[in-house]
Amino acid sequence: GAPVEVDLTPIAEGQIVKVFWRGRLIFIRHRTPDEVKSAGDVNVASLRDPQSDAERVKDGKAQWLVVYGNCTHLGCVPLGQQGEYKGWFCPCHGSVFDTSGRVRGGPAPTNLPIPSYTFVSDTKIIIG
Ligand code: FES
Repeated sequence: GAPVEVDLTPIAEGQIVKVFWRGRLIFIRHRTPDEVKSAGDVNVASLRDPQSDAERVKDGKAQWLVVYGNCTHLGCVPLGQQGEYKGWFCPCHGSVFDTSGRVRGGPAPTNLPIPSYTFVSDTKIIIG
C-alpha cells in the first residue's frame, strides 16, 4: 500500500486517533505531559520487552506515540486510557500496556510495535 500522510493538528492532547495502513490498525496518541512522564519513569530492565520510551518515539517528539493497534497476544484491539497504567487494556485476556504501549501485564508477549513512519514537519507524519 501507498504511504499514508497524517495531519496531527486536529489531534488534541490526550486523544488517540485510529488510522489504517496496509489494512493494519495504527493508533496515533497525543500524549499529555503526565503520560510522557509516566512512560519515562520506568526501570526499563524490569520490563518483559525492555525498551525505553525514548526508543519508541521519533525525533524527541515525546508527545506523539505511534503504535500498531492490535494486541500482541491474539490480536484484539486494546482500549485506550484503560488499565493500571492508563495506557491500553486488552479486554480479551487482560493484557495491560503503559502509555508507551509497552506490555506491563497479562499474556501479551511483546510491546505494541512501532510502524515505519517519519515526521515531515512538526505537525505531519507519513506512515509507510
Ligand atoms: Fe489481548 Fe489476548 S488478545 S490479551
